[in-house]
Amino acid sequence: MKLAVIPGDGIGREVIPAALNVLDALGLEIEKIPLEIGYGKWELTGSAITDEDISIIKECDCVLFGAITTPPDPNYKSVLVRLRKELDLYANIRPFAPLKKVKLPCAKKFDFVIVRENTEGMYSGIEELHEDTAYTTRVITRKGSQRIAQSACILAKGRKKEITIVHKANVLKSDSFFRDICVGIAKKNGIAYSEKLVDSMAYDIILRPEKYDVIVTTNLFGDILSDEAAAIAGGLGLCASANIGDHYALFEPIHGSAPDIAGKGIANPIAAILSARMMLEWMGKVKEAGIISMAVDNVLMNGIVTPDLGGSSSTDEVSRAITESVMKSD
Ligand code: NAI
Ligand code: MG
Repeated sequence: MKLAVIPGDGIGREVIPAALNVLDALGLEIEKIPLEIGYGKWELTGSAITDEDISIIKECDCVLFGAITTPPDPNYKSVLVRLRKELDLYANIRPFAPLKKVKLPCAKKFDFVIVRENTEGMYSGIEELHEDTAYTTRVITRKGSQRIAQSACILAKGRKKEITIVHKANVLKSDSFFRDICVGIAKKNGIAYSEKLVDSMAYDIILRPEKYDVIVTTNLFGDILSDEAAAIAGGLGLCASANIGDHYALFEPIHGSAPDIAGKGIANPIAAILSARMMLEWMGKVKEAGIISMAVDNVLMNGIVTPDLGGSSSTDEVSRAITESVMKSD
C-alpha cells in the first residue's frame, strides 16, 4: 500500500504526524510518500501544487491530508477541490456520532453520515467575474447524481437501509433533477428514502439529529451541513472524513489549518487520527480500525484531551496516549 502524506499548513503539520504515529504503532506495511503542498509552497514558488505533485499522488493508492491555508490571491484555485476532481473522488463521507465523554451542545443521541457529492455542484469551477456581476455555474449531472446516490445506498445497506435526500428543489431546477435521480437510485436499490429541504435540514440537525441515518446531498450543502454537524458532535477537532472515488481515496479531518492555534501544540489530533482510521476501514483493515476507535475512547475516558474539549493536554500528549493504548491492545 502506497500512501501519499500531505500535512499541508498550520495544524495539518501537527495532527498528521500524530496520525502517522498511531498508524506506525499498528505495524502495518504502508509505504509513505511525503509531499509538500499548500500555502507554504505557494509562498516559496507561487504555486500551491504542481502537475508533478499530482502525478506522484496518482502513483499512490490513497492520500492522508491535513489542511491547507488559502493563499491571499484572488486567482488562487483550491488545491483540495483540484485534487478531488483530478482523482475523481466523488463521494465525501462524513460520519457524526458522539464520542465518549465529549460534552455536547445539544442532543445527546445521534449517529448519521453525510454523503456529499464532491466534484460538481457549486464547486464546478465555472465562474465569471465582471465589473458589476459575478457568476458561478452550479453543475448537476446525471452521472454525478447517480453515483453519489449509489454510494449513499451502499452505505445505507450496512446501516438502517434508509436515506434522506437533502436539496432545495422548491427553488432550484438543478436540485429537482438531483432529487429525482436520487429517488430513482434509492428505489432501484430497495432503500427507503425521505427528502428534506436544506434550510429545514440545517434546523433539524440541531434539534432532531437522531432522526437521520444517511444524508445524501450536493457539494455546497454538504460542506455547510457537515460543519454544523461537527458543532453538535463536539467540535471540528473530532470529525473525520473520507473522499472516495473508483480508483483513489483521500482521508482528511474536516477542519482547516486553524491559524489561530497553529504552532501552539494544542490542536486536537483526534480528527486526523480518526481519518486514518477511516483509511484502514477502506483498506479492509477492520480489526485495526477497531483498535484505533477503542484507543481514542480510552484516552477520552481518561480525560487526556486538548483545550478545545476543555482539557489541558497538548497534541503530543493526546497522540502519545492514543499510540500507547493502540500498542497495548496488540
Ligand atoms: P478551521 O477549521 O481551520 O478553524 C475553525 C476553528 O476551529 C478555529 O477556531 C480553530 O482553532 C478550531 N479548530 C479547527 N481544528 C481544530 C483542532 N483540530 N483542534 C482544535 N481546534 C480546532 O477553519 P477556518 O479558520 O475557517 O480556516 C482556516 C484556514 O484553513 C483558511 O485558510 C481556510 O481556507 C482553510 N481551510 C482548509 C480546509 C482544508 O484544507 N481541508 C478546510 C477548511 C478551511
Ligand atoms: Mg468545509
